[in-house]
Amino acid sequence: MGKDVIIACDFDSAEKTFAFLDKFTGKKPFVKIGMELYYAEGPSIVKEIKKRGHKIFLDLKLHDIPNTVKKSMAVLSRLDVDMTNLHAAGTKRMMEAAIEGLTRPDGTRPMLIAVTQLTSTDQESMENDLLIHEPIDKVVMHYAHNAMESGLDGVVCSPLEAGKVHDTCGKSFVTVTPGVRFADGDIGDQKRVMTPAEAKKIGSDYIVVGRPITAAADPVAAYERCVAEFCE
Ligand code: C5P
Repeated sequence: MGKDVIIACDFDSAEKTFAFLDKFTGKKPFVKIGMELYYAEGPSIVKEIKKRGHKIFLDLKLHDIPNTVKKSMAVLSRLDVDMTNLHAAGTKRMMEAAIEGLTRPDGTRPMLIAVTQLTSTDQESMENDLLIHEPIDKVVMHYAHNAMESGLDGVVCSPLEAGKVHDTCGKSFVTVTPGVRFADGDIGDQKRVMTPAEAKKIGSDYIVVGRPITAAADPVAAYERCVAEFCE
């Protein structure tokens, strides 16, 4: 599994996104398009970034009845992204339907990864709001295992969980980990964070980095620092 740094392009317009990407002359970082940018600009933003030669993780976190997810994934697979995702809470039947929808007539498909429990959910909110009374670590591993059994390629998880996910689901089951900060940086609203070097050590396959790169005085240097710490 090739390790890579994915930049979370959390912008609300194509204009801001391209002003940011234009700084990367000669480089084509792996880019994450989330709900904010997708809802602002629609599928054209995916096509335009793809045309510029970037790999794309389309982070739309689908969660609906299996038939709706299957048909939506079929539409998304035509955008030719490299990675997309859904909520494992939608059940195994929904995840299997997603794989079916995402698979193109020639048998190829983007990587499909699952969100287990959002890192914004803690034990207390899971118990009180969702009435799930198992320890959150056990819930995360159970959802990861369900994703694997449904044929998915991996999960989004906290870097702190990446090692355990690999122990439970195998080394080739991909871990995509946000919540990354430089040792000397601001942690902002992320609670449980790791540096790129620590994420590498613990076995993350991809790190998703937003503000430490997008809000840096020199975003290209910040990206290169991530790559040097995580990939090399
Ligand atoms: O700016 P920052 O590095 O915190 O951005 C992290 C990115 O990862 C954001 O796009 C955020 O939505 C996403 N993310 C996260 N935690 C998750 C899933 C996704 O921070 N559990």
